[in-house]
Amino acid sequence: MKIFVINGPNLDMLGKREPHIYGSDTLESINAELAEYCKTVGAEPEFYQSNSEGTLIDIIHSARDNADGIVINAGAYTHYSIAIRDAIASTDLPCVEVHLSNVHKREDFRHVSMISAVCTGVICGFGKKVYRLAIEALLQ
Ligand code: DQA
Repeated sequence: MKIFVINGPNLDMLGKREPHIYGSDTLESINAELAEYCKTVGAEPEFYQSNSEGTLIDIIHSARDNADGIVINAGAYTHYSIAIRDAIASTDLPCVEVHLSNVHKREDFRHVSMISAVCTGVICGFGKKVYRLAIEALLQ
């Protein structure tokens, strides 16, 4: 199963960015660990990160013909990007929305997700483990 693992804005700053909320691992090390996990379960991940909404939309579009599923942490775009929501809906692929932090325990504006309704499921609050749980969910 080919899976696009897509990270949105500011997730390239993991490790430096508010480590008390997001942990001290870099995105590079999270992806490397996830790639190792994927080998053990027969998943084939492809990793993407962008700070730009348009680029994220292009990546999501390309998943349609190049992937069997999507794991996405859309960062702050989660809370207001109807364009990213529409892009996910256009793929017709299973998609898992993930967040490192428990967004429901945080500011009110993080309680709203534009994308949950077009995703297969949502996993949040378990730190870097959310990516592995999402892959596991897609494989099932
Ligand atoms: C996040 C939560 C979002 O609210 C925030 O804007 C992020 C990261 C998370 O992984 O916990 O950038 O998606």
